[in-house]
Amino acid sequence: MTRAMRLALALVLGLAGLTFGAALLVQDQMRAWFEKDVNLRARLALQGARGELAQSWRGDRGRLETLLSDLTLDERILGACACDGSGATVARTRDYPAELDCAALVARVASEGPDPRWDHWARIEDLPEREVHLAALPLADAAGELGWVFLAHDLTFMARRDARTRLFLFAAFGILALGASLFTLLAARLSWRDWSEELRGFLRGGEQRKMFRPILADVRDLVDRLIEHEGRAWTAQRLKETLRHSLSDEKVVVLANREPYVHQKRPSGEVEVMHPASGLVTAIEPVLRACGGTWVAHGSGTADRETADRHGRLKVPPGEEAYTLRRVWLSPAEEQGYYYGFANEGLWPLCHIAHTRPLFRGEDWEQYRAVNERFVRAALEEVDSEDPILFVQDYHFALAPALIRRALPRATVITFWHIPWPNAELFGICPYRDELLEGLLGSSILGFHTQFHCNNFLDAVDRFLEARIDRERSAVVQDGRATLVHPYPISVEWPMRQLAGVPAPAQARQQVHAELGLEPGTMLGVGVDRLDYTKGIEERLLAVERLFERHPQWLGRFTFVQLAAPSRTTIERYRALNESVEALAARIDQRFARPGWHPVILRRAHHEPPEVFRFLRAADLLYVSSLHDGMNLVAKEFVAAREDERGVLLLSQFTGAARELTEALVVNPYNLDEAADALATALSMPPGEQSARMRSMRSYLAEFNVYGWAGHMLIDAARLRRREQLFARLGDVESVQGLVPRQPGKAVLR
Ligand code: G6P
Repeated sequence: MTRAMRLALALVLGLAGLTFGAALLVQDQMRAWFEKDVNLRARLALQGARGELAQSWRGDRGRLETLLSDLTLDERILGACACDGSGATVARTRDYPAELDCAALVARVASEGPDPRWDHWARIEDLPEREVHLAALPLADAAGELGWVFLAHDLTFMARRDARTRLFLFAAFGILALGASLFTLLAARLSWRDWSEELRGFLRGGEQRKMFRPILADVRDLVDRLIEHEGRAWTAQRLKETLRHSLSDEKVVVLANREPYVHQKRPSGEVEVMHPASGLVTAIEPVLRACGGTWVAHGSGTADRETADRHGRLKVPPGEEAYTLRRVWLSPAEEQGYYYGFANEGLWPLCHIAHTRPLFRGEDWEQYRAVNERFVRAALEEVDSEDPILFVQDYHFALAPALIRRALPRATVITFWHIPWPNAELFGICPYRDELLEGLLGSSILGFHTQFHCNNFLDAVDRFLEARIDRERSAVVQDGRATLVHPYPISVEWPMRQLAGVPAPAQARQQVHAELGLEPGTMLGVGVDRLDYTKGIEERLLAVERLFERHPQWLGRFTFVQLAAPSRTTIERYRALNESVEALAARIDQRFARPGWHPVILRRAHHEPPEVFRFLRAADLLYVSSLHDGMNLVAKEFVAAREDERGVLLLSQFTGAARELTEALVVNPYNLDEAADALATALSMPPGEQSARMRSMRSYLAEFNVYGWAGHMLIDAARLRRREQLFARLGDVESVQGLVPRQPGKAVLR
């Protein structure tokens, strides 16, 4: 029973009770009026006839009877009777009830003393079937008392009137009660409708919303801040609680091409676990450790099949089993077209301003589409509800959000684009731009590292698609469905679990110096990257060369070591980069090297995380010189690794990180003189300044860590889901703006 129905029922019962009480009161009052009326009439009749009655009493009995009959002409008067003082009947009308005999009546009036009431009631005991009113008039003449005249009124008419009055009363009050209840229901319904209309208006962004927008925004801001801060830092535990409280512990399914654990077979036949060099993996792995769930990824290792079950599933991290890794197997042709071709020769250079021409081949596109479908199918096998949370990662899966939406219209799809998004003009050169945009707009939330990239995306939609851009909410609305496009700057785990086994800075420094054959006092510069043309490794080495030219005092006293993980090596551009970096390092070394000292050391190999962190702890400076980078997590890892608050970060202004780590020495990597001077500044920076800068960056990262990154997206997703549920209850599918299906969907992929 709804609240409104309960209210109406209570109202009806209340009114019925009131009606009953009121009916009794009214009935009593009416009865009193009737009795008074009858009394009056009897008295008038008897008084009027008094003289004549007395006259005929003693002589003319016939006349007396006639007079009595005249008094009883009114149909409600049953009869009249004249009785003498001894109780004998003097005269009576024909219909006078025999039960009311003179003896009893006279005895009754006599018992009332010298001044008897002259009207009496003869009730049921006298006439069981009827109600009779008996009026008694004492008569006397000059000779003395004569006796009494009794007039019997039939009161059954009063009972009939009573019944009819009661009926009318109940009918009237019943109608009133019904009317009042209907009115209440109607009013409740109308006010609910008004309220829900208004609410829909707010959420749709109508006029009302505009009116209240400033207040709403302030309130929402305040609530968000209260929820999000609560004076607590973001931790794995808090992220887990957020998932539990805000999303009822919903299972999270991540779709990301690169797997966190790659099983490789050594030439000896032994299987080893490798941790790939990927900012994405660095960020997502702690999130899944905290939340559990499933990571759907390409099984790329040579021993991946034998370490997974027949569905490609295995529990990871090895020995901890905190979540499931679901591997998807790709054929060489699929990997070539989807991964190397469209993703890394097309989208990667398209999104980075690094002066490498994107290549768009039709066959690569076909593979990209097909592989996106394959991954989505695998992800759908991992979900366990009609409205799961899917976390789609990066440029490998631009088509996945729309495919998921088509299969599971109520899914919450959070997509994060880990690389930059180019301006609309640049993006427009992609022959498949519309399909890519449509694909991404299947997301509930689409995240970028910076507002700038969000704006670029919105501009591209504005230019190439028929969709409404809601700049106020930073959302794209298409067919009544919205995709929020918001910045969520990615970050690192805090504190970093991977630092646990890494030697402390002083020890790390010692070890690294020994390994590289550096004199103890030599300053050490470090670069850590995948060998990728977007990382500006050539520019970095050139800046080091320029340092020695502009600041020769560092010759023999400073060595720059570059850890470069080979990446995407089947792509021609990457092979060329390998060679050019190699040649450049060799040239600089040749130019400046002295016995026992090298200006530049290039380590082209995969380095496992503990090794990387050892170098980061040993470094006097880290130079991140990306020509364009969504965020660059190596910069943040460096800050996280430096518990000693030492070391200087040189950071390219073209990284997302430069917007957050403002205490770094921010440089333009193309400006070699500026970069060389910044290197010199870093090398001679006093320890106090190093600490101050590092401390500030560390406190920033402690607060804005990867748990906060994921937490903010989950909180936004939870808010969307609550809205979706509200609208589903209101039955307004349209207003949910795509977060509710037009028809309940089935997990089927076309
Ligand atoms: C970038 C991309 C990631 C990718 C990583 C390593 O950070 O945004 O998605 O995993 O590079 O590249 P790879 O091709 O080896 O996965």
